[in-house]
Amino acid sequence: MTVVSLGVPSVHRPVGPAPADGPLVDTFGRVATDLRVSLTDLCNLRCTYCMPAEGLDWMPSDQKLHAGELMRLLRLAVTRLGITSVRFTGGEPLVVPHLEELVAATAALRPRPEITLTTNGVGLARRAATLREAGLDRINVSLDTVDAARFAAITRRDRLDDVLAGLRAAKDAGLHPVKVNAVLDPVSGRADAVELLRFCLEHGYQLRIIEQMPLDAGHSWQRDRVLDAAEILTALRRHFTLQPDPQPRGSAPAQLWQVVEGTRVLGRVGIIASVSQAFCASCDRSRLTADGQVRNCLFARDETDLRALLRSGADDAALEAAWRQAMWSKAAGHGINDPDFVQPTRPMSAIGG
Ligand code: 5AD
Ligand code: SF4
Repeated sequence: MTVVSLGVPSVHRPVGPAPADGPLVDTFGRVATDLRVSLTDLCNLRCTYCMPAEGLDWMPSDQKLHAGELMRLLRLAVTRLGITSVRFTGGEPLVVPHLEELVAATAALRPRPEITLTTNGVGLARRAATLREAGLDRINVSLDTVDAARFAAITRRDRLDDVLAGLRAAKDAGLHPVKVNAVLDPVSGRADAVELLRFCLEHGYQLRIIEQMPLDAGHSWQRDRVLDAAEILTALRRHFTLQPDPQPRGSAPAQLWQVVEGTRVLGRVGIIASVSQAFCASCDRSRLTADGQVRNCLFARDETDLRALLRSGADDAALEAAWRQAMWSKAAGHGINDPDFVQPTRPMSAIGG
């Protein structure tokens, strides 16, 4: 399936009231079934493309949803809004001590959603098995290079071995397929991509390379410094034979390639061209931040404050209506490539990937 960029500006336009029931739809007919839940804005790494060395002004804990509030929203999402997949993200979700309890409580919801996790892998070695037992279905581990010095330069922490141990533990725990998410450095990224793919093929992980998006806290992203999908493919093809994967892509953001040697398929690699070939037209996501705000897009300029509603005693019907209205007003596209694009104030670490 070909997914094309809508190429339309993400201008705000008036929208009427959202449908009161049925799936979580927007005015362009997209249906959100995949909920991304950021559990914290805290992180134990300091990736240069994400946050400054000194960290950020973290969310005060009284502003974060507590477990009871979060589970009330998750129950509503699954039972009334048609959410079928829940991904826990951060910041770094493993810094949340009660993550296992949240996963277990989510797994007890009916209909049971698929439960996935995006993590940087630090500390995962100790928790992969317990997370699996709690009900985690799949995992994405962020890893931008397998070179220890470059890892330390990118993340500003010397934790490569922890992440590699986490990956092994995830595989041993049966979290299949283990996906590796990489955001490439503009200078060393081509070499990193080749080494990462070799590493992932050797260990049976599925590499997914993501074009870097303008979501850094420092607002220093530059379009012409992004290694785009075409450049990444060219770099990989110097060392590997790639063929388009025959599986239908659906709403998956990654364009999948088979890595082949003769007639043998060695593995797969995905390229997520979020900037150069936006897949907004098939987006099926809704997002909830750790402080209880619904975002209808990574790049949304508006949020809907479910925490305030929760804490003012709103009933489920009012929460449901607010969530539906938030999604109904979703823009056609993220607009990164528009001349008047404005980066959201909330950085990636406080939205979640
Ligand atoms: N662009 C693209 N991906 C990013 N991530 C973090 N910041 C960016 C960005 N600016 C990735 C992380 C992780 C996931 C949560 O999002 O590497 O894999
Ligand atoms: Fe942490 Fe992810 Fe940001 Fe890196 S990109 S600092 S791992 S939140």
